[in-house]
Amino acid sequence: MEVIDTVARLREWVDGRRADGESVGLVPTMGCLHDGHVGLLDRARGENDCVVMSVFVNPLQFRRGAYESYPRRLEDDLEIARLGGVDVVFVPSVEEVYPALGSLEEIFDLQDGSSGERDSDVFTVDCVGVDGGMEYVRVPGRLVMKMDGVDHPWHFDGVATVVRLLFEMVGPGRAYFGQKDIQQVAILEAMNRWLKMGIELVEVQVVRADDGVSLSSRLMLLDDDQRAIAAAVVGLLECFAQDTTGQRVDGLVAKLMAGVDEIQTHRNMLKIDSIDCVDPVSLERLDVMTESAVVYIAYIINGIRLAETCWCG
Ligand code: PAF
Repeated sequence: MEVIDTVARLREWVDGRRADGESVGLVPTMGCLHDGHVGLLDRARGENDCVVMSVFVNPLQFRRGAYESYPRRLEDDLEIARLGGVDVVFVPSVEEVYPALGSLEEIFDLQDGSSGERDSDVFTVDCVGVDGGMEYVRVPGRLVMKMDGVDHPWHFDGVATVVRLLFEMVGPGRAYFGQKDIQQVAILEAMNRWLKMGIELVEVQVVRADDGVSLSSRLMLLDDDQRAIAAAVVGLLECFAQDTTGQRVDGLVAKLMAGVDEIQTHRNMLKIDSIDCVDPVSLERLDVMTESAVVYIAYIINGIRLAETCWCG
């Protein structure tokens, strides 16, 4: 396994493999890998001749505080990558990915949205930074101004911008993303169609722990009591989504909130941030449960924000 930190060496490596007729799968990550990522690596390993995994904590998709406190564990990640059969781990610096952005300050300023307008239907690109040398992607309003994007649309602009760059740097045949982040996946699928690069986006199913909670890097912040609450939220979500096709969403939300009240009577540390029942492609809100509906819940336990996604069926 090779660890690469420059775009030039990455391109050289990937070009060499493609010249030999080999297929390349890309698994973009921000590191701090868990079994959910291992699921992505396994799938990529099984479907491609070689696998490139990127580890890059992308400042464009965080507020400064969250960026600085994001857990970083490169040595552990490299070990997991090695065991997962990864061929190349791409670990670039911020300057390597965004050479036209002078400083982290400039990056965080972009989140205020001052440099451009968002279209409601199409992806747009703003040329920003030194000599306009960096292309900043803006996600269409119809996909971003809902669910988690309402409060921080720039987060998804940051994700789209970095994933587009990674696609251009690696030029993979396939790229792998977890289905858990339903809005991210819908946006990246739409961006992939817009880019017309012929990359196949592979959505990999949510990996759950024994108590049903889906794996995420933030779970390690919960104590046992808080973890039991997270498991109870998953239980409520399953009641919402399972065998409820044809039922009204408002009635199901009321039932779920009654369950939340019940949990709060015993332990007052759970807050529901949002509940959305949507079509997974358009992200349009549904009034009635359909067979393909997805329920997404964002919730906070003692200040720690978590999310769960559940498919109807
Ligand atoms: O889902 C993630 O880990 C990140 O949003 C991604 C896709 C690696 C982009 O930074």
